[in-house]
Amino acid sequence: MAKNGFSPEFMRELKARNDLVEVASQYMTLDKRGYNYWACCPFHHEKTPSFTIQAAEQYYHCFGCGVSGDVVSLVMEMESLPFPDAVKYLAARAKMPMPEMNFDSERTAELKKKKDRLLKIMLTSARFYLQNLYGGEAGAHMEYIRQRELLPSTVKKFGLGASLDYDSLPELLLDSGFSREEIEESGACSVSARGKLFDAQAGRLIIPIINSFDEVIGFGGRILGKKTEREAKYKNTKETMLFNKRKTLYNVNLLKKYKQKNAVPYVIMVEGYMDTISLYQAGFCNVVASMGTSLTQEQARMLKRYAENVLISYDGDFAGQNADLRGLEILKDENLNVKVVLMPEGEDPDDVVRKRGAAAYRACLDNALPLVDYKLHSLERRYDLSQTEGKRAYAQAAMPVIREAPSAAEREDLLKTVRDKTGFTYQSLARDLEEYTPSQKSAPVPPARAVQDKGDKVKKACRFLIGAVLFRLPYAEDAALREEDFPDDVHRALVRYINFCRETGQEIRVSDLFELFGEDTPEFNAILDLNTEERLFGGGAEKYFADCVKTVARRRVQTRMDEITAKIGAETDLSARHALAEELTALARELKNY
Ligand code: UTP
Ligand code: MN
Repeated sequence: MAKNGFSPEFMRELKARNDLVEVASQYMTLDKRGYNYWACCPFHHEKTPSFTIQAAEQYYHCFGCGVSGDVVSLVMEMESLPFPDAVKYLAARAKMPMPEMNFDSERTAELKKKKDRLLKIMLTSARFYLQNLYGGEAGAHMEYIRQRELLPSTVKKFGLGASLDYDSLPELLLDSGFSREEIEESGACSVSARGKLFDAQAGRLIIPIINSFDEVIGFGGRILGKKTEREAKYKNTKETMLFNKRKTLYNVNLLKKYKQKNAVPYVIMVEGYMDTISLYQAGFCNVVASMGTSLTQEQARMLKRYAENVLISYDGDFAGQNADLRGLEILKDENLNVKVVLMPEGEDPDDVVRKRGAAAYRACLDNALPLVDYKLHSLERRYDLSQTEGKRAYAQAAMPVIREAPSAAEREDLLKTVRDKTGFTYQSLARDLEEYTPSQKSAPVPPARAVQDKGDKVKKACRFLIGAVLFRLPYAEDAALREEDFPDDVHRALVRYINFCRETGQEIRVSDLFELFGEDTPEFNAILDLNTEERLFGGGAEKYFADCVKTVARRRVQTRMDEITAKIGAETDLSARHALAEELTALARELKNY
């Protein structure tokens, strides 16, 4: 097997069909002198050419800086691509098919292929909607955008589009070579009772839903004008292989980009598409939407990768909807710091910024209440505090809420609030609270640690190895991962995927893995977190990686030694025993290396 899994035959053909001189001339001006070509070196700064291409030999060399290479390394450099992608690039350039490979995991290959098709359908649709919007026939859509006070730059940023009718989209998709089944499966089109494909978003303003890998996975469609009896205000793409509403945060793509350039002390969580777009336009870029109210655990976990603090900015009447407190508990359970933004009754963030301005919304953010305070605040509205009975009931209901406050100082603060609202003395309220808390006094016994430590160390090492390879850290480029070295099932599946990609020269794409593992796979999450917490980068990472390689190898050898030791005891044949004993000695020697 040649480098990165491509056969020597394939590589030879690839190079034969991509002449170095032709490819190089895309990037630099070549001067032919005799048999060879000269240019100013693209790899270092110079005024007189010292970069030569030996046309017959098909390699380049710079006499100035000493680099040399072939057509593949040139493309890697000039296009900033890893080896397999440079190969893919050149194959496409020469209209050569990429080699068929035997799959390690058929399911992975199958899923990857299917997913790529569906993504293409979504992208084609998104582009089509975009063209519609600017094509002159979307007057009503443009008028709606104008009414909502969205600037052209905002509309562009969010990739908004227009669906004009039922039939154009399916026609386009079929003409583009997608099958009926694929089109239906993507959710871009639905099938009528008569079995005809039609645009699932017919007539609507289109809001593309884009994941953190910049892939269009679904659409939200807003009806123009008021919602009718028959039609919902928003229609979302059905649940598909790509789009799972529970696992999606709207605008996570722009949040990710924003975070690459800015500190994100908190994320603003809103309910709707329009709230998101409107806030973004008003300068609040760290915003995502849950697309409806009830927040899921998957969304909470995703959120955690971007910030530790969340400001919940739901509609003004949110306080009345107690069921939604559950969503906030989910955030808290994920150890996110939650505050609730209070807004004028009946207004949503979009209303606030448009009617009252960005500064007014900023003030709402500044006055956001910690979760416990917010709960107390919303409790208050349920009792009639002008009556003694109301006061008593309120004070009683407040106790379990106050008990949740993490510090004594906060509990004191909250008790004072109740005192001020009810007129009861602080002492009596404090005593009530005491009576509520006896069970809290004994702290839970921490689980036994020592026994777990060894397993933990191996697990952490496994995670780090996989993470570093998955996120293509240069120091992990040549590390070979062996499936059998990884005790955890999820780790093994990841290693299988990585090896599959490496062998077939395909790009390792983390986005593919979301098909195999949901956001609710803890081991998968732990590896993703390594990346978001930037543990894979920085000074010590490379050294730690080397340690992990050893840890995993040591475990492999140790496990094998244990096996052999068990076997030796049971083995009656003398020469077989000898062989085992010899292997054991060899392994013991190997173990010393790690
Ligand atoms: P809202 O009704 O609060 O939406 O629903 P909004 O964003 O303020 O809508 P505008 O301002 O009237 O245009 C919040 C979110 O709930 C989901 C959408 O994701 C919406 O953005 N939703 C709402 C639906 O999926 N379907 C609906 O029919 C309504
Ligand atoms: Mn709204």
